[in-house]
Amino acid sequence: MKGQIGVIGAGTMGAGIAQVAAQAGHKVVLSDTNPEQLLKAEKQINASLEKLVEKAKISAEATQQIKANLSYSKHLSDHQAAILVIEAIVENLTIKHELFKQLEQVVSNQCVLASNTSSLSIASIGACLQRPQRFLGIHFFNPATLMPLVEVIPGVATEQEVTGNIDNLITSWNKTVVVCKDTPGFIVNRVARPFYGEALRIYEEGVANFETIDWAMTQIGGFKMGPFTLMDYIGNDINYTVTETVFAAFYYDPRFKPSFTQKRHMEAGFLGRKSGRGFYSYAENASPLQTTEDPQLGQAIFERILVLLINEACDAVFMQVASPTAIDLAMTKGVNYPKGLLAWADELGAKWVLDRLEKLFAEYGEDRYRPNPLLRKVAREGSKFIS
Ligand code: NAI
Repeated sequence: MKGQIGVIGAGTMGAGIAQVAAQAGHKVVLSDTNPEQLLKAEKQINASLEKLVEKAKISAEATQQIKANLSYSKHLSDHQAAILVIEAIVENLTIKHELFKQLEQVVSNQCVLASNTSSLSIASIGACLQRPQRFLGIHFFNPATLMPLVEVIPGVATEQEVTGNIDNLITSWNKTVVVCKDTPGFIVNRVARPFYGEALRIYEEGVANFETIDWAMTQIGGFKMGPFTLMDYIGNDINYTVTETVFAAFYYDPRFKPSFTQKRHMEAGFLGRKSGRGFYSYAENASPLQTTEDPQLGQAIFERILVLLINEACDAVFMQVASPTAIDLAMTKGVNYPKGLLAWADELGAKWVLDRLEKLFAEYGEDRYRPNPLLRKVAREGSKFIS
């Protein structure tokens, strides 16, 4: 697919997506109703390109071409020639519907329309369109210029050919594409929930403090960041809202139950790095960390969180959200996990994972620890998730 790309919404995500498409050689129109936001986006993109030149990732001439590929507009009508328009405006269904209804009057019948939504269903956004068969989700991760993963999500009405074409197009932008079902949280925002939720639960039970849980997950588990450091980085407001949205969207399945600890931190304004304090203090005179480096305790914490993550990945495969390979790619490329969760399960053995989950389930009697049927099957057969 060659031709002009439209991006609507010049905020955090839109500016990054526009830059990615322009770097891939497309003419790109980035539009926003707020002219100040357009100026800000242009500055941000130019600064990002200069950094790439400094790091010798691209040449100065290439930068000129990329800048020439980009235009900034207040007018929806400038998307008339687009072959694909990606919407990245405010996360509100009514406002998105308004926009897509107007946009459909502007673009050609062949133009593919997409949303970068994180939490709304693709079916619900596409329902406002006259031709929903050319609509799908294209979910980039923040920052879009750096994160390799893109989830492509066809809705119930999307034509198969549209999904295939978009998969090829976004792959040609040097991104790793995973195609997944239109279910809450898609892959990453669903499968990653226990990384935060179980860490919070372990803290709430008084098993260990934030520092020790983070130490266990990084030093024993090999994760780049511990859950509390990561929640502080993402922002407790954003992370809590994602959990709450996924919990509600799964009809209040206890596996996704949000945590009071995180809610209270959010309510107190302890949002994380951006507010100077979250689970940790980011003040200059912050007290030193109090880590208990007990290998046995660390191993128990790591295993408890890992088996819940694997169980969630199994559920996503079991419910046909995506293939095991796609899920492993999503978690390694979208949230930098040290290994794909299903490959990890294969390495440890499904029975090893199942035994630990069954112990937790017997101990707590809570549904959040119920082992997935696919995990049981693979353990029983002694087979593997990834052949
Ligand atoms: P943002 O708040 O940074 O930017 C939204 C932009 O849309 C603003 O510049 C605003 O002026 C503009 N806008 C609002 N209504 C508009 C309209 N009717 N027409 C044109 N422009 C309009 O938002 P952000 O964070 O970039 O999120 C955008 C979308 O991407 C949301 O759907 C969000 O769920 C999704 N997303 C966000 C991620 C993140 O980490 N921030 C990650 C992945 C997806």
